[in-house]
Amino acid sequence: MSKIEVAASVEALNQAVAKQFVRLTTEAVRARGRCVVALAGGSTPKGVYRMLAYEPFRSRVQWDLIDFFWGDERHVAPDHADSNYRMADEAMLSKVPIAQGQIHRIRGEMPDVDLAAREYESEIRALSSDAVPRFDLVHLGLGTDGHTASLFPGTPALDEQQRLCVANPVAKLDTHRITLTLPVLNAARAVVFIVSGAGKAPIVREVVHGSDPSREFPAALVQPTDGELWWMLDRAAAGDQA
Ligand code: 6PG
Repeated sequence: MSKIEVAASVEALNQAVAKQFVRLTTEAVRARGRCVVALAGGSTPKGVYRMLAYEPFRSRVQWDLIDFFWGDERHVAPDHADSNYRMADEAMLSKVPIAQGQIHRIRGEMPDVDLAAREYESEIRALSSDAVPRFDLVHLGLGTDGHTASLFPGTPALDEQQRLCVANPVAKLDTHRITLTLPVLNAARAVVFIVSGAGKAPIVREVVHGSDPSREFPAALVQPTDGELWWMLDRAAAGDQA
């Protein structure tokens, strides 16, 4: 069952997601001694990640007990403007007290994207003996076409039921992306979509309030089997005209 939280502004949304990050990571550490997080890409989460790096949130996060992964990565080098790693590193990771070994970036710079995906899967599996490793928290964004991570409508990765991470050809972008797959997203203990802006209101209406999950909107297929599902929206994305 998904939960929806609507914040009055982008700033309030960032505050709410940051507060939830503290709650969910603290709960994970209390229960299992460590926490495994998959960060979102794109631009929306930047404000949250920047906020977490500073007070009042910075000192409330048990940084040394969190392993950071990503939900997806573009086929670019880590210093490229489009790199999801670079976004999170600049906004947060480079500013907080964590060791390099806690940062698990997808090597988007590798020419062989399939090898990069397989290496990333091995890195995920190294942290868990579960058949499908369980992330404690997965942050996701939402594209206006209903994609999330790099699970785009009509792309092969949507059909992947075994692997945790694959290289996904995205014809409309004329590129490959490396992305976590639905099995690992749906094994998460908590999935949090972070969506802002009026431009996303139509797709939010379809995905969040739509009748049933369909491959037309990949984000609608993210339904954690035994985990929390949150839609963290600002008023504009929620379609509140107020
Ligand atoms: C990516 C993301 C992607 C993103 C959405 C929303 O690599 O681009 O994983 O799924 O979350 O496209 O992007 P914005 O937050 O920039 O609107």
